[in-house]
Amino acid sequence: MKKLPPFIAVPTTSGTGSETTIAAVITDDETHHKYAVMDLQLVPKYAVLDPEMTRGLPPKITAATGMDALTHAVEAYVCWTYNTKESLQCAEEATVAIFKYLERAYQNGDDMEARTEMLIASFKAGFAFTRAGVGNVHAIAHTLGGLYNTPHGLANAVILPIVLEDYGEAVYPRLSRLAELTGVCTSGTQEQKAKAFIKEIRAMNQRMDIPTGFDHIQEKDIPQMITWALKEANPFYPVPVVYDRDRCNKVIHRIIDEA
Ligand SMILES: [Fe+2]
Repeated sequence: MKKLPPFIAVPTTSGTGSETTIAAVITDDETHHKYAVMDLQLVPKYAVLDPEMTRGLPPKITAATGMDALTHAVEAYVCWTYNTKESLQCAEEATVAIFKYLERAYQNGDDMEARTEMLIASFKAGFAFTRAGVGNVHAIAHTLGGLYNTPHGLANAVILPIVLEDYGEAVYPRLSRLAELTGVCTSGTQEQKAKAFIKEIRAMNQRMDIPTGFDHIQEKDIPQMITWALKEANPFYPVPVVYDRDRCNKVIHRIIDEA
């Protein structure tokens, strides 16, 4: 409620987009509940995007944080409401840039063109989700971060293709558009293009040594994970498919089964 001192953000990864978003994430040490706090006061007045700040980032963190940015762009893009022309455009441009530059930055950390483009992409993805929200991927990923300290970007990278597949036809129109823009698949039906787009996310993960699932999720924790994920996603995230406990349970078991 009080006026903040000047708030200037300098990102040191190309991922969270925190330099432009309303979001901060907090983990309760006692309950292991990791959750998002959203407030307009958390949007920095200035962002300084300096690629030198990300030059020394190891490949593994470059990959995971980059996939976090991709998850922001895609989850915002498939939002069924809230999007504006501008937020859709930011999500599209971020997705195209991440497909083009993330693996270059992963392979060669000194590729400053790739580092620069990734910083801009992560900013745009953050802008998009501040308008259009994230979704079930983030809601489930946060439970893994809180319970097992699974890095946020890594959790998103693994869960993103699984949730998009689970959404099915609800996201075909939007994902097919992303498939066209990224050049992943430009002909065929919406379903074929959308599936090709998801397949390419899996292929990117594989090329950057990101696993297909997680074997560290414990069965006893799943009911709590579902409670937290549903509480976070509904009603706060404008997701294309609202999950109930059964569907969330099914997705979490796919994350385990695919490990
Ligand atoms: Fe995120």
